[in-house]
Amino acid sequence: MAKKIQAIRGMHDVLPQQSPRWQFLEDRARAVLERYGYAEMRTPLVEVTELFKRSIGEVTDIVEKEMYSFEDRGGDNLALRPEGTASCVRAAIEHALLDHPQRIWYRGPMFRRERPQRGRYRQFHQIGVEVFGLDGPDVDLEVILLTRRLWQALGLDNLRLELNSLGDADERARYREALVAYLLAHQDALDSDSAKRLHSNPLRVLDSKHPDMQAVIAAAPSLLDFLGETSRRHFDTLCAGLDAAGVAFQVNPRLVRGLDYYNRTVFEWITEDLGAQGTVCAGGRYDGLVAQLGGRPTPAVGFALGVERLIELLDADCVTPGPDAYLVAVGEQAQNQALLLAERLRDSMPGLRLLCHCGGGSFKSQFKKADRSGARVALVLGEDELQQGTIGVKPLRHDGPQQQVAIADLPALLARPDTEPTPAAQHASTDQ
Ligand code: HAM
Repeated sequence: MAKKIQAIRGMHDVLPQQSPRWQFLEDRARAVLERYGYAEMRTPLVEVTELFKRSIGEVTDIVEKEMYSFEDRGGDNLALRPEGTASCVRAAIEHALLDHPQRIWYRGPMFRRERPQRGRYRQFHQIGVEVFGLDGPDVDLEVILLTRRLWQALGLDNLRLELNSLGDADERARYREALVAYLLAHQDALDSDSAKRLHSNPLRVLDSKHPDMQAVIAAAPSLLDFLGETSRRHFDTLCAGLDAAGVAFQVNPRLVRGLDYYNRTVFEWITEDLGAQGTVCAGGRYDGLVAQLGGRPTPAVGFALGVERLIELLDADCVTPGPDAYLVAVGEQAQNQALLLAERLRDSMPGLRLLCHCGGGSFKSQFKKADRSGARVALVLGEDELQQGTIGVKPLRHDGPQQQVAIADLPALLARPDTEPTPAAQHASTDQ
């Protein structure tokens, strides 16, 4: 036998029995996003590597270790997108969308070559939003309220919100100096990763999960103490807005995020139900990125949620029902006509989910497949039915006799949840 080829480690198929949950999440998310006035944007999965280096930052795990980047046959340096914000900003600048405020959302696969584990994949999916052109804490609040509404729409009530402010560039520069001085004084306690980051990206030291580092991190200076008046007011107004809207949150001064473009507000929604990879949604403000990528200075805020992680949290019972009907055809002539009849039925009943048997076989074997499909009824087309313009209707989910009905009466019959013939249909069937 030929050797089987398997999917790449950390990249997963979504199988037919799993897709109802994906569709449930995507449908609910889209409905909520539309209610807040967001329009969808789709960008390519591949961009020039430079885009991610300049936006996410050269000294980040994503850019240093995790990007799928390659030289294509034309010699261009390209990368599979590790996230959506950079592409969204690139597209917004390229298509001159930024002369007025924009609320944009996107969804799709992202790629990071991380060590695969539960909740952490090499191909994963995000639904994200980016708002351009609004600088107030009001839109930060709106974005967080949107996420809360989304959790409600998904039936999730076990998520907590963590919030921080990273201040502006000069505030962060002053903080960085103080943090480096503090870390140098505790150099002996740093693990090897943190020691490396001490000069290249010291804020990321605060993100270390190393158990031995936790005491040093807990006693480190807090960025919130370095905020200037404007950043402080922005943060306080957001906190007051969250209080007024009844959104519980914790301020976490160690929340720094793994991408370099953020300033001021950053936030994460976290669950304890998924083990180590508990952040299901993360984002914040990135007022400098548009200019950094060559656009006019434009404030921005956004977030992305991890679809796989949220799907794990959903209740198991969102299954798509089976088809309404399964069309069985007995005899050569009927089999030749079955697909055409199925098309006519779909034409006359726009919502009908109809599976038409293909591949021939005996009446018994077709009926078995009808039953296994989960359909409510089997529609039976034989030579007699063809001649008389009728069809047999046999309930599959409860006991009941097969009825003969005129094809014209099928819509009324199938619209009934129990699929018992209406008096009109019965009348029609006895008329035949
Ligand atoms: P991020 O924190 O890198 O932010 O990713 C956002 C979310 O994507 C995470 O909270 C997590 O749920 C999910 N995620 C990230 N990596 C993986 C992975 N390897 N496997 C499974 N899920 C994962 C961003 O990507 C920013 N672009 C968010 C943003 C938008 N900020 C402003 N606008």
